[in-house]
Amino acid sequence: MSKPSLLILPGDGIGPEVMAEVERIIDWFGEKRGLEFDVTRDLVGGAAYDVHGTPLTDETMARAQEVDAVLLGAVGGPKYDSLPFELKPERGLLRLRKEMDLYANLRPAQCFDALADFSSLKREVVAGLDIMIVRELTSGIYFGEPRGIFREGNERVGINTQRYTESEIARVARSAFELARRRSGKVCSMEKANVMESGVLWREVVQEVHDAEYPDVELSHMYADAGAMQLVRWPKQFDVIVTDNLFGDLLSDAAAMLTGSLGMLPSASLGAPMENGRPKALYEPVHGSAPDIAGQGKANPCACILSFAMALRYSFDQGAEADRLERAVEKVLADGVRTADLIQAEGASPVSTSQMGDAILAALD
Ligand code: NAI
Ligand code: MG
Repeated sequence: MSKPSLLILPGDGIGPEVMAEVERIIDWFGEKRGLEFDVTRDLVGGAAYDVHGTPLTDETMARAQEVDAVLLGAVGGPKYDSLPFELKPERGLLRLRKEMDLYANLRPAQCFDALADFSSLKREVVAGLDIMIVRELTSGIYFGEPRGIFREGNERVGINTQRYTESEIARVARSAFELARRRSGKVCSMEKANVMESGVLWREVVQEVHDAEYPDVELSHMYADAGAMQLVRWPKQFDVIVTDNLFGDLLSDAAAMLTGSLGMLPSASLGAPMENGRPKALYEPVHGSAPDIAGQGKANPCACILSFAMALRYSFDQGAEADRLERAVEKVLADGVRTADLIQAEGASPVSTSQMGDAILAALD
């Protein structure tokens, strides 16, 4: 059998710094666990613009379409602020997401015990929290037509349109149900069916997909505003939450922040299953290129490392190895190893990006 393929796009700023630690971990899995990948490395964002004059070449795009998973660091930086819109680093990432048609954005909110005091909520509310928000990423109000600012009589009117087709709802619902089967078997779908027709359709279609294909999964429905309240009141009642692009944008940011630092947050964006049954997939930390700390060895590599753990689980069917990696991160945090972003008290001394990588490798051993 050929090795699973991985395209690594470190990008800009701290992207290459955190990705270097991920590459050491990938090597560890090859050497110690016999889990080898066919790795290609390439440029994206400003790094690609500097060399090729475009934030993503057609060759890189084509490679992304054929590999089993893409792992991306971060793109962007002040150096590129004055570029025209089409050449900005972010366009490279947007093109990847759009052309790979990555419609299901997975944002875990997982609380590592050692960081529970980082939360703005009480320890008992967040300790042990492990939920997954699945946000529809390619449709809804950010894309619907008509849109724009128009003149109506004596005043301007701003218009955006929430539009969802049945198939768009069904495919993201399937992603959520598939995830639930690998987790605790529970999905809560959130919309505003009480005031929005698109929400009524959302609720109907999610229920239909459930009844026809996933009757073994426990499905509930909640209005998104009530869901927001419940997320803050008692987040542990949820396992997988599936919701539209707009509500998912808000709910996933809020849920992620229940658990601490930007430097700890991974994500996955999944598309349709390929011929080999694996979904098209792009894994990346939630954070950006952090120009304020780039080049200083201060970045926390955990978000990018945990994104690779998600790749192990969702692209490569290596759930046990993903657990192993997550447990190593957890152990290192429990031992008190902290990059600067994870330190609240004055006087504590932070470790560098590569020292955090060292500690995680040692914990894996
Ligand atoms: P950012 O996420 O890069 O940084 C926000 C703050 O969090 C900064 O103070 C930064 O130092 C800190 N931070 C972020 N990641 C960290 C890590 N791993 N370890 C320690 N500290 C960390 O967001 P910002 O400053 O709004 O954007 C900077 C650049 O990144 C911009 O060009 C923006 O467009 C781009 N960006 C790219 C994203 C991506 O590639 N997916 C996402 C968000 C922003
Ligand atoms: Mg957002």
